[in-house]
Amino acid sequence: MLYNPPRPAPILGVGQSLQRAKSATLDSAATCRAKKRATHLPAYGIIGAQWGDEGKGKVVDFLAERADIVVRFSGGNNAGHTVINHMGEFALHLVPAGIFWPHVTAVIGPGVVVDPAALLEEIDSLEARGVDTKRLLVSDHAHVVMPYHIQLDQLEEEARGRNAIGTTGRGIGPAYVDKTARAGIRIGDLTDEAYLGERLAGVVASKNQVLTKVYGAEPIDEPALYKQCLEFGVRLQPYIASVEQHIGDALKRGERVVLEGAQGAMLDLDHGTYPYVTSSNVTIGGACSGLGVPPQQIHAIIGIFKAYTSRVGAGPMATELDDAIGVDIRERAHEYGVTTGRPRRVGWFDGIAAAHSTQINGFTSAVLTRLDVLDGMSSVKVCVAYEADGDRYERFPSLPGLLDRATPIYEEWPGWTSPTAGATQLGQLPAEARAYVDRIEQIIGCPIDLISTGPKRHESITVRPLVPEL
Ligand code: IMP
Repeated sequence: MLYNPPRPAPILGVGQSLQRAKSATLDSAATCRAKKRATHLPAYGIIGAQWGDEGKGKVVDFLAERADIVVRFSGGNNAGHTVINHMGEFALHLVPAGIFWPHVTAVIGPGVVVDPAALLEEIDSLEARGVDTKRLLVSDHAHVVMPYHIQLDQLEEEARGRNAIGTTGRGIGPAYVDKTARAGIRIGDLTDEAYLGERLAGVVASKNQVLTKVYGAEPIDEPALYKQCLEFGVRLQPYIASVEQHIGDALKRGERVVLEGAQGAMLDLDHGTYPYVTSSNVTIGGACSGLGVPPQQIHAIIGIFKAYTSRVGAGPMATELDDAIGVDIRERAHEYGVTTGRPRRVGWFDGIAAAHSTQINGFTSAVLTRLDVLDGMSSVKVCVAYEADGDRYERFPSLPGLLDRATPIYEEWPGWTSPTAGATQLGQLPAEARAYVDRIEQIIGCPIDLISTGPKRHESITVRPLVPEL
């Protein structure tokens, strides 16, 4: 690998830290402070670095083996994570991928929006396949995706006409709108009959105005919704907790917390390709605000990059392939949405978007997934700049109009004939594939520590331990 930046200091184990403490008088105050800090950094962020669907589920599952807690911090059941393990293949939407490990507590944090019907369905289907969900916790502060949010998501999309975002139609945007407008119902509210009744009355009255007067739709049947909410509250009760305190205490004890991102950085509400984005902060900052985890406790921020690009829904995608190569990649990789089944748009690796993603997330290392999908192609391309209005852009353009007009400037690299599929050692990669990986590493500006060469857990090349102490 070409890129060799300074590595973060490893976390000290308890024994080591005590031993070091004894010799503390020999160290400078600054060194002591640095060591102290190093013993209290047990959180690890896993962030989608492109437009989602990079293969985060596999990486979280991989790291969860030695973690204590795995937490979702943003988004809702618009996300779809596929995990393939000894129990089979699972498509998760809300439940964190750590659920498959019996020692891991899986947590849905306050920054997530939760559709109770979807969550209960996921819990039931996991239980039916032998996965114990007793270690699942749902934040009482997470906002509820209500049936009217789903209805409004669909009505608003229709009303956008040719400017439609291509949302997943799961009510995510309207739920976050209500959260910001302070008109949301939170998971904890579902367990408080009196409070829920009062809150729902006000919210439903205003939603009915919009539904009936703006969209000419039927009004919400408030008593039926109230009853349904109370039923959700009863069923979810065993899972509901004040998770901020739980996570804070676990971090103090030095337990290892994996922060499981959803979607990808380019869909971030503030830093993505607005307005064609999701409605939450899916980058590492969203983990701090969406969980109440202080940033200095995050030891590693791992960016998950796919060896090419995919995107679902509308919005600019400079490297999109509308040709036979695009179709070929989509079919080889089965690029269809886990949540909606929609065909994903596919294209070459976009180095400009990828470098932007590294910058806004501060990745300490990267994982490159689905390298095997490119096996057998005569050549592979990497976008190294955009051209728009006669100018060359080597940084991600911030104006959406420019992005719409941008065309990619590519480097073309020779393809490889022998397969990378299933490789577990760097030495098994053909020279051309290694050159491609090295070039991507150079472009994204952080070391690629793991290369995924297939969907199964063992189909991975560990270049360096992703998190040395995990
Ligand atoms: P929403 O999150 O349903 O509002 O959709 C907004 C945009 O984000 C649409 O383009 C969706 O296709 C996209 N999106 C939301 N979740 C995912 C995901 O998990 N993977 C990929 N795209 C997503």
